Amino acid sequence: MRALLPLLRTSWAWPVGAAAAAAARLPRAASAGPGPRRTMALYRTEERGQPHSPDYRLFFKNVAGHYISPFHDIPLKVDSEEENGIPTKRARNDEYENVFNMVVEVPRWTNAKMEIATKEPLNPIKQDVKDGKLRYVANIFPHKGYIWNYGALPQTWEDPHRKDKSTDCCGDNDPIDVCEIGSKVLSRGEVVHVKILGVLALIDQGETDWKLIAINVNDPEASKFHDIEDVKKYKPGYLEATLNWFRFYKIPEGKPENQFAFNGEFKNKAFALEVIKSTHECWKALLMDKCDGGAINCTNVQVCDSPFHCSEEEARSLVESVSFSLNKGSNEEDQVWHFLGK
Ligand SMILES: *[C@@H]1O[C@H](CO)[C@@H](O)[C@H](O)[C@H]1NC(C)=O
Repeated sequence: MRALLPLLRTSWAWPVGAAAAAAARLPRAASAGPGPRRTMALYRTEERGQPHSPDYRLFFKNVAGHYISPFHDIPLKVDSEEENGIPTKRARNDEYENVFNMVVEVPRWTNAKMEIATKEPLNPIKQDVKDGKLRYVANIFPHKGYIWNYGALPQTWEDPHRKDKSTDCCGDNDPIDVCEIGSKVLSRGEVVHVKILGVLALIDQGETDWKLIAINVNDPEASKFHDIEDVKKYKPGYLEATLNWFRFYKIPEGKPENQFAFNGEFKNKAFALEVIKSTHECWKALLMDKCDGGAINCTNVQVCDSPFHCSEEEARSLVESVSFSLNKGSNEEDQVWHFLGK
């Protein structure tokens, strides 16, 4: 175990990739740009195992260096005064009402289906495995991998036993997904502040799988975006491309086209905020053991009244007990394109 320790890479909010390596030289606050406020990195990530191998895991730590769960311990709202005990500047309610933390799982233009491991203690990011094979999304011409920075809102859960009133389908058992449409390519494991603009209701094999549309508040153009109409106005074609991306992305795996509620119409910000509110309530019930969480792992270090709360020492030993090897992975699949035009 000790011999493997040099493999354990630690970084501040910039965990992987060549772009990340360059950016890592700058403190996060210095790169915040002309956004509405400067953000300080409150979270850092730690990699175990080799990327694109089955035992790759990206763990999260808070600013004090304690392991946390990105699913349960990062607050949903950024105006929370409890954000790891670091006081955040209070601002006008209307400015903060629509700002959420987003955990980036997949940087734009990449293919590896990286996701928060909801069933593992402390929920590191790992690459999804299906039928013993690492999963990559196909390139569907003319797109390369994911066409947004893709991730999830912490402290949300789409309850698989609860029927959504508007879609008449149950949840997909995951935190709610986010497509971040800003111009910057973000890094896996980054935690960014996003403004919610709308939502698409994907129905995947009978389950509701909401896809929020959001923009990084530090994007140079963020101040122009207030609601879904602004996406149509300032990024024409992006919503159509998004709809088709979700419609077709499982075709190369031999699955049928995905379906959508509301005829594939994107709902506006107000609707999206209601969806977030209800998935946050479901997450609260999950963490308080008030509903059937199935195999979801609820171990957390910040939600003190949760029966699944654990100490910092317990969290550390959970991470240290995870084994990993030197197995190198490959991702040849992202060189293949699929042509599905009609
Ligand atoms: C989560 O993982 C821990 C550690 O392996 C385990 O003790 C616990 O029972 C798991 N389940 C839940 C619901 O948290």
